[in-house]
Amino acid sequence: MLNYYYKNIFPFLINKNIGNKEIIELRRKALSCAKGEILEIGIGTGLNLDLYPDSVERITAIDNYVRILPKSKVKVDFYNMSADNIAFKENTFETVVSTFCLCSITNLEKSLQEIKRVLKPNGILIFLEHGRADIKSVQLLQEISNPIFNIFAGGCNVNRNHFEILENNRFKVEGNIKRVNIFPKSITGYVYMGVAVNEK
Ligand SMILES: C[S@@+](CC[C@H](N)C(=O)[O-])C[C@H]1O[C@@H](n2cnc3c(N)ncnc32)[C@H](O)[C@@H]1O
Repeated sequence: MLNYYYKNIFPFLINKNIGNKEIIELRRKALSCAKGEILEIGIGTGLNLDLYPDSVERITAIDNYVRILPKSKVKVDFYNMSADNIAFKENTFETVVSTFCLCSITNLEKSLQEIKRVLKPNGILIFLEHGRADIKSVQLLQEISNPIFNIFAGGCNVNRNHFEILENNRFKVEGNIKRVNIFPKSITGYVYMGVAVNEK
């Protein structure tokens, strides 16, 4: 039953929800500073591919789930690989991109260490992630709903404070939290957007 849901319904829900007009514009804005060798983690259905700046012609992408990506202006070297065990040499990339992915990574600390390792010194992690609200009463709602949300949203967590997590993992964070229209807005509508600089 859950298998059927994940194969046939969940991808559709993702595309509709985190592919809505407002989010597409935020993606475009977030990706505008992508440069050099780029690694996108948890590429999913490839919603970012046509939103990279024109200067980007090719990216490397990973996902721990096998993906068939759409045709796009950007060429993709795709690897079925988990973010907690990235098979690239250290200091390979200028930019790592994560959109709506850090919320569902299980081994997050190890994954951030891996991202730091493959990023060049002063390289950037571009992030656009929903997470913990900046309002106390909503935080409580997020804590209560997280276990059930986790089951129906591919292991996604609604309660992660991405600024805190990134800073604790020695990234220098520049960003802000926006209120957006992602269903269910009451718990997933708080989006962390910005850049985390890899200070080695
Ligand atoms: C909610 S989807 C977002 C997809 C895409 N980044 C986007 O913005 O539309 C989360 C993606 O992260 C991937 N993912 C989760 N954990 C991962 C991991 N440890 N390593 C690589 N990808 C992972 C999932 O397979 C899924 O494709």
